[in-house]
Amino acid sequence: MADAGFVKVAQVSEIKPGEMIVVEVDSEQVLLANINGNIHAMDDICSHAYASLSEGDLNGVEVECPLHGAAFNVTTGVPVSPPATESIRVYQIQIEGDDILVGPPNS
Ligand code: FES
Repeated sequence: MADAGFVKVAQVSEIKPGEMIVVEVDSEQVLLANINGNIHAMDDICSHAYASLSEGDLNGVEVECPLHGAAFNVTTGVPVSPPATESIRVYQIQIEGDDILVGPPNS
């Protein structure tokens, strides 16, 4: 049984290691990334301008924005290269069997 505030959004088997997908959670676009078998979730929209990070490249723990090339650490939401300067929200994750559940953002 899922904890309160967690919703099933996808299955682990849908996302291979090194890949990303985007899902909708409470009207927010959320990026899910599989990094070495661990699923991480963060907002899909770049903090610099309006671009979908899941359309960028995933290199290790960093996702590169397809529009101007800012990179973010997917595990923390922190920008690691310009032009973005603001962090992106990351979300709590629970795995139940093959199910991925996304919870509230980390504050
Ligand atoms: S919109 Fe992502 S770096 Fe500009």
